Amino acid sequence: MPSILFPSTANISRCARLIRSGKLVVFPTETVYGLGANAFSESGVERIFAAKKRPKKNPVIVHVSSFRMLGSVIAKPLTPTQLRLLKLFWPGPLSVLFPRSDRIPSNVTAGLDTVAVRMPSNPIARRLIREAGVPIAAPSANPATRPSATLSVHAKKLRGVSAILDGGQSVFGIESTVLDLENQLILRPGPIGLSDLKPFLPNVRFHSSLKFEKIPKKVASPGMAFKHYSPDCAVSLVFGSSSRLAAFVDSLPEKTAVICSASVAKKLRRKPLFVFLSSKDLARNLFVFLHALDDRGFKSAVIQAVAERGIGFSVMNRLKKACSKKIRLT
Ligand code: TXA
Ligand code: MG
Repeated sequence: MPSILFPSTANISRCARLIRSGKLVVFPTETVYGLGANAFSESGVERIFAAKKRPKKNPVIVHVSSFRMLGSVIAKPLTPTQLRLLKLFWPGPLSVLFPRSDRIPSNVTAGLDTVAVRMPSNPIARRLIREAGVPIAAPSANPATRPSATLSVHAKKLRGVSAILDGGQSVFGIESTVLDLENQLILRPGPIGLSDLKPFLPNVRFHSSLKFEKIPKKVASPGMAFKHYSPDCAVSLVFGSSSRLAAFVDSLPEKTAVICSASVAKKLRRKPLFVFLSSKDLARNLFVFLHALDDRGFKSAVIQAVAERGIGFSVMNRLKKACSKKIRLT
């Protein structure tokens, strides 16, 4: 099992060498931890799919540290308009689809003609990519279907990893927004919301599949079709006013874990396991909470739904997939 490495200059260089030689390295980003391999190495990328038991049809995001490196990943040079937009959001939690360069093996994009690319803002990630000198293909550092890792210790649940670089808790806590720039469609909601993009992309909207609650048959972003983010613990997502929620929670057996907002917590007779202060706070801690449910042996839990606005829309997208049941209190 790989040890967790402090992100010293020497350790980052060691991890960069591992990436160059086709090995897997877990590294921190501002969204979630990534399971990285050299994006130019078909066999390196193959290891990602094996380590995660990831369906071959689910393409992987490529991480770059510079616009020059972006040039080696995409088929056509950026237009001035594209460059202007990217400079507003990069480095940061936005992945953008581009026509794929021939240097990117087809297993990275699951055979698609487009490649999703992002330039992370986390300084450890930036340094690792720069030192590796190659773009890094990296899905979230979790076994397929399981909660993403926002702490390095959670990446230990993966097999076949050569090193884990520590970077503390991920700042945003949920994965990047995936944008189909050409069609002005958000394929996966994330930290960059519709209202952040609207001033620069007036026609941008959510892909219609994001409005359905059931898993759609056909989706534009293949990852959205799979079971996702789920702990072993059976988690129910509960909708209702704070007083209804409080009464419901107080009626549950003590052994059911409770995750709720501070305003509901104030009304409870029992102690919740975790309390969040806002939708942003829930986004940051959601995967820490979900890992903790399994690590502490809880078999059942309830989590309070949040309003589907701004970051709340992105968190609810993850929660609806992670939870095995929805309860509406009326
Ligand atoms: O924040 C993030 O994006 C993290 C960190 C590590 O950067 N990565 C991440 O990767 O969440 P992953 O593999 O867990 O999710 C990638 C998502 C999937 O839903 C996948 O289907 C979609 O991006 N995707 C990747 N390439 C695509 C493409 N060419 N067309 C459409 N969707 C794509
Ligand atoms: Mg993932």
